[in-house]
This record gives sequence, structure tokens and C-alpha cells, in this order.
Amino acid sequence: MRVRAALLDADLGFIADGVLSWDATGALTEVGAYQGGPVDEDRRGELLTPGFVDAHVHAPQTRIIGRATGPLLDWLATTTFPEEARFADAGHANDVYARFTRALVRSGTTAACVYGSSHPTAAGALFSALDSAGLRAIAGPVWMDEGAPSPLCVAPEVSRDTVLALRERYAAHPRLSVAVIPRFALSCSSRAMALAGQLAAEHDLLCTTHLSENLGEVQAVRERFGNDYVDVYADAGMLGRKTVLAHAIHLTERDWRRLSDGGVIIAHCPDSNAFLGSGTFPWTAARDHGVRVALGSDVAAGRSFRMGFAAAYTYDNALRDGATLAPIDLFAALTRDASAALGLPGGRLALGRPADVVAWPMPPWADDADAVLATLLFDADAPVASATWISGRRVWTDDGRPWWSVVREPIAR
Ligand code: GUN
Ligand code: ZN
Repeated sequence: MRVRAALLDADLGFIADGVLSWDATGALTEVGAYQGGPVDEDRRGELLTPGFVDAHVHAPQTRIIGRATGPLLDWLATTTFPEEARFADAGHANDVYARFTRALVRSGTTAACVYGSSHPTAAGALFSALDSAGLRAIAGPVWMDEGAPSPLCVAPEVSRDTVLALRERYAAHPRLSVAVIPRFALSCSSRAMALAGQLAAEHDLLCTTHLSENLGEVQAVRERFGNDYVDVYADAGMLGRKTVLAHAIHLTERDWRRLSDGGVIIAHCPDSNAFLGSGTFPWTAARDHGVRVALGSDVAAGRSFRMGFAAAYTYDNALRDGATLAPIDLFAALTRDASAALGLPGGRLALGRPADVVAWPMPPWADDADAVLATLLFDADAPVASATWISGRRVWTDDGRPWWSVVREPIAR
């Protein structure tokens, strides 16, 4: 496959008239300025970028985007837990997960760290949906054994066995792997937390959870565990380089040092933080402590799957916190840096890398890096991706239908 269009990459920069080729294995074989020769697709007027990475998204919350019932604990109790309880029904899970995957690829997201519901059967449905959509993902069921309605509670041994079964089933899979996801301290017993930390360490699995998102939540954690939030996760052995902690808003200087010493990754979810009134993420504290930050949509507390919006709101949030971010650095955060942090192979337009590539329509004046970044990240009226490929396989072509449509035809290769 050979495509001609403008290119943008975190290392390469902007190429106004570029070309990308990939081979039958889906690896990039040509990246650079167009210097002649036939192409399979002439996409001049569009921009090709690496696919975006969503470091934190909840698949079973696809149908509740926009339900304004925050702050966090109210939103969980009134909107989120009742919706997630429906995922006991495999038919419901299959239906919603098909729409979820469509929403990701149309938004130019080619890889994601995905929270499922707590149900073992729905975890299988999530992996099947991610697989047939062609997505790259690190996913798993959320672990919950208390602090939630009983239909959502699952014994930690069952969650552990579900993770182990998925690990075995997808061991040789080129794009999917399983994560350990104790939902947050308030939905896990100390035993669940300890088992989760142990499982992740034993099998070198990515471990992800929520941390210090909302003041009411922080207070409830202190009352329940008699400990600071970070200590609860530290006690479970969860603070390591393969740990992704979402939000991380209300933290002390000591907390930041512990996160830094552990080498964790923070998933910053700015739209969720706004919609649930959670607060301003202390961007400068993370930067000053050298803590890696990736960006998450956090649908459905975040109101869009589009990671360009997450980048725009990250810019706004950082500005409030006293830092002015460069748009190219935000772009790098969504692509190269998130891929590196999560151990994913995409994120760069470079020879030998998988062709996880997105084509974006561009206005006629977008003829340099600043202009394309303005459209890609900050123009809320810009269109969605016109095409998306993952490992060279075409997984999305814009058909103008709403994102919630279910497409039953097989994906074209
Ligand atoms: N904390 C625990 N569960 C959730 C969730 O689903 N969304 C958000 N934003 N925070 C959480
Ligand atoms: Zn979340």
C-alpha cells in the first residue's frame, strides 16, 4: 500500500507532500517526501499521522456519555453502576462493545488502555470486539468486590482467574494483552487489592486504577483504610513502571515523590476532571517530579472519544496551572510518548514500525506544522478521521453515519 498526503510525526515533523508505504505484514517500508511514482491512494488535502493512544477509557460507559449526574461518587451510584450492571447480559455487551470500537477508530484512536465491566463473560466479549475491530489494546475486567451494588461485585479470585484465562488465550495475539484493573480503592477490599498487585507483579502485567480524583472520594478512602490514597496502592505493591494511575489530582508533595520513585504513569483525563468537577490536574507538579503523563478520554466521565480534545483540554488545564504547552509536544504525548510509556509498538511514522496510521481532512490553509496542529488538536469543529489503518489493515473509512451506528459488514483489509 502506498499513500500520498501531508505527514506529521513527532520525530519527523511536518512534510507537506509526503508518502507512506507498508508491506503485507503491516510494517512501514517508506516514509518521507514524495518523489514520484504511482500510489494506491492519492490523499493530497489530507494529513497522515500515527494513530492516537487513549490511555484511559471505559468501554461499558459508551451509552452514558453526557449524563450529567456528577460529582464522581453520585455519578457512579446513579448512572454508571446501573449501566455497567447490564453487562451481565452477553448480548448487551456485544452490542455496546461493537459501537465502542467504532467510536475509537473513527476518532483516530488506534490503541487504548480499556476498562471493561466486572463480569467475566463481558471481558471475553470485550476482547472479541477489540479483536474484530482490529484495534490494539491493553484491556481487562474491572475488579470490584465491595462498595458497589452486589450484581457488580465479583470475588477477587474470580477476577484473577478471568485475567489468567485471557492472558493464556491471547498470549500470542499481535495486538491485544490483558491488564489487571482494580477499579479504585473504594470498590476493592484489601484482599482484592493485594491479589491484584501480586498478580500484576507475578506476570509482569500492566496494572491500572484511579487515584485521588475527587475530594469526597479521597476522604472516603481515608476513612475506610485509615491511610492516604497513595499508601493504599503502595501497600498492595502497585506503584511500578507498568502502573497507570488515572487522574492523580489531590496529592501532597510526599505523594508526588512516591509516584516518582515508583516510576508510574499518570493518565491525565482533563475533560472528565471538568465534567465531574474533580479539579485541576497539577501539571507542573508531575513535570517537576519527572512523572510520565499520558492522556485519557475517560469516557464516559469524559464526553468524547476524540483524543484531540483531550490534548486541547490538557493545554487549557496546564495553562491554569502555570505551564504553556507546545502543540507539537501534545501531539507527541498522544502518539510517540504514550506508545513508549505503555510498551506499544506504534506511535511513530518510522521504517519497520506498524502502519497505525490515520488520515485527517485538512482545510486548504493548513500548510505548515502550526496550522495542521491547530486543526488536529484545537478546532472542535474539525471532522473525524477519514480513514484509519492498524498494522496496515484498514479499520475505518468515514461513511458519514453517526458514531453509534453498528456496522455489520466485515472490515476491509
Ligand atoms: N473511579 C472509579 N470508577 C470510576 C469511573 O468509572 N470513572 C471515573 N472517572 N472515576 C472512577
Ligand atoms: Zn476512569
